[in-house]
Amino acid sequence: MMAPFTVAIDGPAAAGKGTISKAVAAHFDLAHLDTGLLYRAVGARMLQGEEPIAAAQSLVAGDLENPDLRTADVAQAASKVAVIPEVRAALLDFQRAFARRSGGAVLDGRDIGTVICPQAEVKLFVTASAEVRAQRRLAELGERGFQTDFDAVLADVKARDDRDMNRADAPLRPAEDAVTIDTSDLSIKDAVACAVRVVAAARDT
Ligand code: DC
Repeated sequence: MMAPFTVAIDGPAAAGKGTISKAVAAHFDLAHLDTGLLYRAVGARMLQGEEPIAAAQSLVAGDLENPDLRTADVAQAASKVAVIPEVRAALLDFQRAFARRSGGAVLDGRDIGTVICPQAEVKLFVTASAEVRAQRRLAELGERGFQTDFDAVLADVKARDDRDMNRADAPLRPAEDAVTIDTSDLSIKDAVACAVRVVAAARDT
Protein backbone atom coordinates (compact mmCIF):
# COMPACT_ATOMS: atom_id res chain seq x y z
CA MET A 1 0.00 0.00 0.00
CA MET A 2 1.35 3.43 -0.92
CA ALA A 3 1.98 5.90 1.90
CA PRO A 4 -0.44 8.84 2.02
CA PHE A 5 0.72 11.79 -0.05
CA THR A 6 -1.40 14.92 0.12
CA VAL A 7 -1.29 17.89 -2.22
CA ALA A 8 -3.16 20.86 -0.72
CA ILE A 9 -4.15 23.55 -3.23
CA ASP A 10 -5.77 26.72 -1.92
CA GLY A 11 -6.65 30.06 -3.43
CA PRO A 12 -9.47 32.47 -4.29
CA ALA A 13 -12.29 31.81 -6.76
CA ALA A 14 -11.38 31.56 -10.46
CA ALA A 15 -7.59 31.66 -9.96
CA GLY A 16 -7.14 28.35 -11.77
CA LYS A 17 -7.04 25.99 -8.77
CA GLY A 18 -9.58 23.60 -10.26
CA THR A 19 -7.75 23.21 -13.56
CA ILE A 20 -4.37 22.87 -11.84
CA SER A 21 -5.72 20.37 -9.30
CA LYS A 22 -7.27 18.11 -11.93
CA ALA A 23 -4.10 18.22 -14.04
CA VAL A 24 -1.82 17.46 -11.05
CA ALA A 25 -4.09 14.59 -9.95
CA ALA A 26 -4.07 13.11 -13.47
CA HIS A 27 -0.29 13.56 -13.87
CA PHE A 28 0.59 11.79 -10.61
CA ASP A 29 -2.41 9.41 -10.60
CA LEU A 30 -3.82 10.83 -7.36
CA ALA A 31 -7.48 11.05 -6.28
CA HIS A 32 -8.96 14.57 -6.44
CA LEU A 33 -11.50 16.32 -4.22
CA ASP A 34 -12.87 19.76 -5.08
CA THR A 35 -13.83 20.74 -1.52
CA GLY A 36 -15.76 23.80 -2.77
CA LEU A 37 -18.39 21.35 -4.01
CA LEU A 38 -19.13 20.34 -0.41
CA TYR A 39 -19.86 23.96 0.54
CA ARG A 40 -21.79 24.48 -2.69
CA ALA A 41 -23.95 21.44 -1.92
CA VAL A 42 -24.73 22.86 1.54
CA GLY A 43 -25.41 26.29 -0.04
CA ALA A 44 -27.78 24.73 -2.59
CA ARG A 45 -29.75 22.99 0.16
CA MET A 46 -29.93 26.27 2.09
CA LEU A 47 -31.38 27.97 -1.01
CA GLN A 48 -34.04 25.24 -1.00
CA GLY A 49 -35.01 26.28 2.51
CA GLU A 50 -32.92 23.96 4.68
CA GLU A 51 -31.02 25.03 7.75
CA PRO A 52 -27.30 24.98 6.72
CA ILE A 53 -25.88 23.15 9.77
CA ALA A 54 -28.45 20.35 9.44
CA ALA A 55 -27.74 20.22 5.69
CA ALA A 56 -23.97 19.90 6.28
CA GLN A 57 -24.48 17.18 8.89
CA SER A 58 -26.66 15.12 6.55
CA LEU A 59 -24.78 15.66 3.28
CA VAL A 60 -24.73 12.57 1.00
CA ALA A 61 -22.78 11.78 -2.17
CA GLY A 62 -25.88 12.47 -4.29
CA ASP A 63 -25.85 16.12 -3.17
CA LEU A 64 -22.62 16.59 -5.13
CA GLU A 65 -24.39 15.55 -8.36
CA ASN A 66 -26.78 18.53 -8.29
CA PRO A 67 -26.38 20.20 -11.73
CA ASP A 68 -26.96 23.67 -10.24
CA LEU A 69 -23.84 23.62 -8.04
CA ARG A 70 -21.85 25.73 -10.53
CA THR A 71 -24.28 28.66 -10.67
CA ALA A 72 -23.35 32.11 -9.32
CA ASP A 73 -26.23 32.02 -6.79
CA VAL A 74 -25.00 28.75 -5.32
CA ALA A 75 -21.40 30.10 -5.24
CA GLN A 76 -22.51 33.07 -3.13
CA ALA A 77 -24.63 30.80 -0.89
CA ALA A 78 -21.60 28.50 -0.47
CA SER A 79 -19.41 31.34 0.75
CA LYS A 80 -22.18 32.36 3.20
CA VAL A 81 -22.60 28.88 4.73
CA ALA A 82 -18.79 28.54 4.80
CA VAL A 83 -18.53 31.20 7.55
CA ILE A 84 -20.53 28.97 9.95
CA PRO A 85 -18.10 27.02 12.19
CA GLU A 86 -20.55 24.10 12.66
CA VAL A 87 -20.85 23.71 8.89
CA ARG A 88 -17.05 23.60 8.54
CA ALA A 89 -16.78 21.12 11.45
CA ALA A 90 -19.35 18.80 9.86
CA LEU A 91 -17.27 18.60 6.67
CA LEU A 92 -13.88 18.17 8.34
CA ASP A 93 -13.60 14.40 8.89
CA PHE A 94 -14.64 13.51 5.35
CA GLN A 95 -11.97 15.85 3.91
CA ARG A 96 -9.22 14.59 6.26
CA ALA A 97 -10.00 10.95 5.50
CA PHE A 98 -9.95 11.69 1.77
CA ALA A 99 -6.60 13.48 2.11
CA ARG A 100 -4.88 10.55 3.83
CA ARG A 101 -6.28 7.78 1.63
CA SER A 102 -3.68 5.35 0.36
CA GLY A 103 -2.46 6.20 -3.11
CA GLY A 104 -2.45 9.93 -2.38
CA ALA A 105 -4.85 12.80 -2.99
CA VAL A 106 -5.13 16.34 -4.24
CA LEU A 107 -7.62 18.56 -2.39
CA ASP A 108 -8.42 22.07 -3.52
CA GLY A 109 -10.22 24.72 -1.49
CA ARG A 110 -9.57 27.63 0.83
CA ASP A 111 -8.22 26.08 4.05
CA ILE A 112 -6.66 22.80 2.98
CA GLY A 113 -3.04 23.70 3.76
CA THR A 114 -3.91 25.71 6.87
CA VAL A 115 -6.65 23.72 8.64
CA ILE A 116 -7.66 20.48 6.91
CA CYS A 117 -4.16 19.13 6.16
CA PRO A 118 -1.45 21.23 7.80
CA GLN A 119 0.79 18.15 7.39
CA ALA A 120 0.28 17.93 3.60
CA GLU A 121 3.45 16.97 1.74
CA VAL A 122 2.88 19.77 -0.81
CA LYS A 123 1.02 23.06 -0.36
CA LEU A 124 0.26 25.38 -3.23
CA PHE A 125 -1.47 28.75 -3.12
CA VAL A 126 -2.88 29.58 -6.55
CA THR A 127 -3.88 33.19 -7.01
CA ALA A 128 -4.45 35.92 -9.64
CA SER A 129 -5.63 39.53 -9.61
CA ALA A 130 -9.37 40.08 -9.05
CA GLU A 131 -9.65 41.68 -12.52
CA VAL A 132 -8.06 38.71 -14.30
CA ARG A 133 -10.24 36.30 -12.34
CA ALA A 134 -13.39 38.28 -13.17
CA GLN A 135 -12.43 38.32 -16.86
CA ARG A 136 -11.99 34.52 -16.84
CA ARG A 137 -15.29 34.01 -15.02
CA LEU A 138 -17.05 36.31 -17.53
CA ALA A 139 -15.69 34.27 -20.45
CA GLU A 140 -16.71 31.01 -18.77
CA LEU A 141 -20.24 32.29 -18.07
CA GLY A 142 -20.50 33.51 -21.69
CA GLU A 143 -19.54 30.06 -22.98
CA ARG A 144 -22.30 28.55 -20.85
CA GLY A 145 -24.82 31.01 -22.30
CA PHE A 146 -25.17 33.38 -19.32
CA GLN A 147 -25.22 37.08 -20.25
CA THR A 148 -23.70 39.41 -17.67
CA ASP A 149 -21.18 42.28 -17.59
CA PHE A 150 -17.65 42.65 -16.31
CA ASP A 151 -18.51 45.03 -13.44
CA ALA A 152 -21.15 42.66 -12.04
CA VAL A 153 -18.78 39.68 -12.18
CA LEU A 154 -15.93 41.72 -10.61
CA ALA A 155 -18.24 42.82 -7.78
CA ASP A 156 -19.24 39.17 -7.24
CA VAL A 157 -15.60 38.01 -7.17
CA LYS A 158 -14.67 40.75 -4.68
CA ALA A 159 -17.67 40.04 -2.42
CA ARG A 160 -16.74 36.37 -2.26
CA ASP A 161 -13.02 37.18 -1.65
CA ASP A 162 -14.01 39.49 1.16
CA ARG A 163 -16.17 36.84 2.87
CA ASP A 164 -13.64 34.04 2.31
CA MET A 165 -10.63 36.07 3.55
CA ASN A 166 -12.20 37.87 6.48
CA ARG A 167 -14.23 35.16 8.20
CA ALA A 168 -13.14 34.22 11.72
CA ASP A 169 -13.02 30.46 11.15
CA ALA A 170 -10.46 29.11 8.64
CA PRO A 171 -10.08 32.26 6.52
CA LEU A 172 -8.50 32.01 3.09
CA ARG A 173 -4.76 32.65 3.37
CA PRO A 174 -1.59 30.89 2.24
CA ALA A 175 -0.03 28.42 4.68
CA GLU A 176 3.39 29.63 5.82
CA ASP A 177 5.11 26.88 3.85
CA ALA A 178 2.93 27.13 0.72
CA VAL A 179 4.41 27.81 -2.70
CA THR A 180 2.45 30.64 -4.35
CA ILE A 181 1.66 30.47 -8.07
CA ASP A 182 0.27 33.73 -9.47
CA THR A 183 -1.53 32.79 -12.67
CA SER A 184 -2.41 36.38 -13.73
CA ASP A 185 0.14 36.31 -16.55
CA LEU A 186 0.50 32.55 -17.04
CA SER A 187 -1.11 30.31 -19.64
CA ILE A 188 -2.93 27.25 -18.29
CA LYS A 189 -0.13 25.09 -19.68
CA ASP A 190 2.58 27.09 -17.88
CA ALA A 191 0.62 27.23 -14.61
CA VAL A 192 0.11 23.44 -14.68
CA ALA A 193 3.79 22.87 -15.53
CA CYS A 194 4.82 25.02 -12.59
CA ALA A 195 2.56 23.07 -10.18
CA VAL A 196 3.76 19.72 -11.54
CA ARG A 197 7.39 20.78 -10.97
CA VAL A 198 6.70 21.66 -7.32
CA VAL A 199 4.86 18.37 -6.70
CA ALA A 200 7.52 16.32 -8.50
CA ALA A 201 10.24 17.85 -6.32
CA ALA A 202 8.32 16.86 -3.16
CA ARG A 203 7.64 13.34 -4.53
CA ASP A 204 11.38 12.84 -4.99
CA THR A 205 12.38 13.81 -1.46
O1 DC B 1 -13.96 26.79 -4.76
P1 DC B 1 -15.43 27.21 -4.90
O2 DC B 1 -15.58 28.49 -5.63
O3 DC B 1 -16.28 26.12 -5.48
O4 DC B 1 -15.94 27.41 -3.38
C1 DC B 1 -17.23 27.90 -3.07
C2 DC B 1 -17.22 28.54 -1.68
O5 DC B 1 -17.02 27.52 -0.70
C3 DC B 1 -16.12 29.56 -1.44
O6 DC B 1 -16.54 30.87 -1.74
C4 DC B 1 -15.79 29.41 0.02
C5 DC B 1 -16.20 28.01 0.36
N1 DC B 1 -15.06 27.09 0.57
C6 DC B 1 -14.46 27.11 1.81
O7 DC B 1 -14.81 27.91 2.65
N2 DC B 1 -13.47 26.21 2.09
C7 DC B 1 -13.07 25.33 1.17
N3 DC B 1 -12.09 24.45 1.49
C8 DC B 1 -13.64 25.33 -0.12
C9 DC B 1 -14.65 26.24 -0.39
